[in-house]
Amino acid sequence: MKGLILAGGFGTRLRPLTYTGAKQLIPVANKPIIFYGIETLVNIGIKKIGVVVGDTKEEVMRTLGNGERWKINIEYIPQEAPLGLAHAIKIAKEFLGTEPFIMYLGDNILKDDLRSLVDQFEENHPNASILLTEVDNPQEFGVAVIDEKGCVRKLIEKPKEPPSNLALVGIYLFDKEIFKAIDKIKPSWRNELEITDAIQWLLDNGYKVESQTVKGWWKDTGKPEDIIEANLLILQDIDSDNQGKIVDSTVNGQVRVAKGAIVDKSTIRGPAIIGENTKITRAYIGPFSSIGDNVVIENSEVECSVIMDGATICNLEKRIDRSILGRNVVINQISESPRTHKFILGDQSYVQIIK
Ligand code: G1P
Repeated sequence: MKGLILAGGFGTRLRPLTYTGAKQLIPVANKPIIFYGIETLVNIGIKKIGVVVGDTKEEVMRTLGNGERWKINIEYIPQEAPLGLAHAIKIAKEFLGTEPFIMYLGDNILKDDLRSLVDQFEENHPNASILLTEVDNPQEFGVAVIDEKGCVRKLIEKPKEPPSNLALVGIYLFDKEIFKAIDKIKPSWRNELEITDAIQWLLDNGYKVESQTVKGWWKDTGKPEDIIEANLLILQDIDSDNQGKIVDSTVNGQVRVAKGAIVDKSTIRGPAIIGENTKITRAYIGPFSSIGDNVVIENSEVECSVIMDGATICNLEKRIDRSILGRNVVINQISESPRTHKFILGDQSYVQIIK
């Protein structure tokens, strides 16, 4: 079975982070989000993955390479514009061939492995298998209606009045009939060929669509709060490992410190992860924090946040909480005059200051 990972799209809800990088490459627990999807596919034995790329293709290709890192083969399929998930399958037809395949949205993270979904698919040979999970905000997803036997009856993309709270998780299994369905559907109001409509076409035309419900957690990392939440969920399960230097400091709970990192006169309360060559001095790093490589945190407190490579945080009186800092961001509090705020912020940056 081949894998198809989608890594295009504009990531508008993650601006300004996505002005300078692909949303699928934003780090969660110091690892690009898309790596979690690749690893999920590798764990079920997939050896060939096609990655559909858009405007950010260079960065995605540079980061993933040819798949050697996972001992698999990665091919890239350029999509000229984000014209929908079904469109991505359509342009990947040559790569996918006629065998069943699994499609994974590159900004999704799932705790479960996909073994039972694949086993069920291989046993029952449906034309499509979908994964569902209960959510509080179904209007933001594709939504499924299932009957009392668990059979899928209806699928609707982002309904204003959701008929259920069962969202479609961004992971799907298909056989070659999906190409027929995609040829029949029309673009939606957002001018995308929706995969939800293609699966609905399969249902309407007597094809077999099965579903499974996610047991662990699932996160679509479309918005900043989702990144914070995904980071928290991943850090919950990390093991401690110290390859750096810890001097005059207190470290509690599960904490990973990478090589070259120095923690000096500080407190780290896990789960937390500190990247390579990062310097934490007279600081507090609280639970659910991911601090990237080459970061400097001095005389400041950070909790439940994602701080990316090269950032600097110095002398802040107030704690940073539930925040995301992009690469090389500098936040510095000064005490000498002029006692003014100084900001150099990209479009759509967000700053909240407390007195
Ligand atoms: C897409 C699908 C939607 C699904 C979601 C899961 O939405 O269209 O059905 O529930 O992924 O992440 P999009 O990310 O395109 O808004």
